[in-house]
Amino acid sequence: MKSILEVIKLNRLVSEWRENNNTIALVPTMGSLHSGHISLIKEAKILASKTVVSIFVNPIQFGRGEDYESYPSNIESDKKKLEKEEVDIVFIPDLKQLYPMGIDTDTRITVPYISEILCGQHRPGHFSGVATVVAKLLAACKPDFALFGKKDYQQYLVIKRMVSDLLIPTLIVGLPTQREKDGLALSSRNKYLSEVERKIAPKIYLSLQKASEIIRIGPSNFNNAKQELINELEAFGMKVEYFELRRATDLALPKNDEKSFVILIAVWLGKARLIDNIAIDL
Ligand code: PAJ
Repeated sequence: MKSILEVIKLNRLVSEWRENNNTIALVPTMGSLHSGHISLIKEAKILASKTVVSIFVNPIQFGRGEDYESYPSNIESDKKKLEKEEVDIVFIPDLKQLYPMGIDTDTRITVPYISEILCGQHRPGHFSGVATVVAKLLAACKPDFALFGKKDYQQYLVIKRMVSDLLIPTLIVGLPTQREKDGLALSSRNKYLSEVERKIAPKIYLSLQKASEIIRIGPSNFNNAKQELINELEAFGMKVEYFELRRATDLALPKNDEKSFVILIAVWLGKARLIDNIAIDL
């Protein structure tokens, strides 16, 4: 595995690969890799002949007072995990590589509507930061495929929409959420949980599963059940930011004859903001 720090070196290598008829898959990450990331890498290796994993903690997707400064980082252990998966390149740009003119006057990409609801409403500018950095990574790597986890379902849809609107010739692939045995979705931010909070955290997925059963009986039942589900979680000391039933394709409010849903949740548990979701096809 090669470690590459500069965009120009990545450009050169991927051009050589292309001349030799390789296909390329990119897995963008912020590092602190866990089995959720690894599942994307395994699929990337199946889809393409060359795999690039990027590690970059992107400042412009963090709001003021969020955890940019304290975001967990362990490059050496990440590199070992990537070596084991036989990744071809780990791309680790610094801030200057991705934001040569600095972050304050940088060009930004905004994906309308879908960026402003749910997580976007609570984290203004977050999805613009994500869309901008992913566009840069796609420009730097020119992959045939880029892989994302549906754990961050809204992020996945924002990126799909951005790539479609900007005519970027990369196929965006969304993969299922990897979970701990007790149902908690894997996340780098689970490290922020205390031992007691860690034991409570699986209630989030349990609550999504309950909501999913209720929707299977009839989607209109969700609104009646929602407050009780929120109360249950809050009784465990969580603060529920949102708990919403949406149309799976674009996160719009579901119509009466909707068949394909996603329930999305964001909660605060101690210092950790945790998100999760569950898809339902009737
Ligand atoms: P990060 O949180 O490191 O996640 C990188 C990728 O791993 C994302 O596509 C995310 O959805 C996926 N992922 C995280 N937890 C997962 C899980 N439990 N199961 C399956 N996939 C999971 O998401 C980001 O970084 C950043 O916003 C990024 C896209 C890199 C842009 O900065």
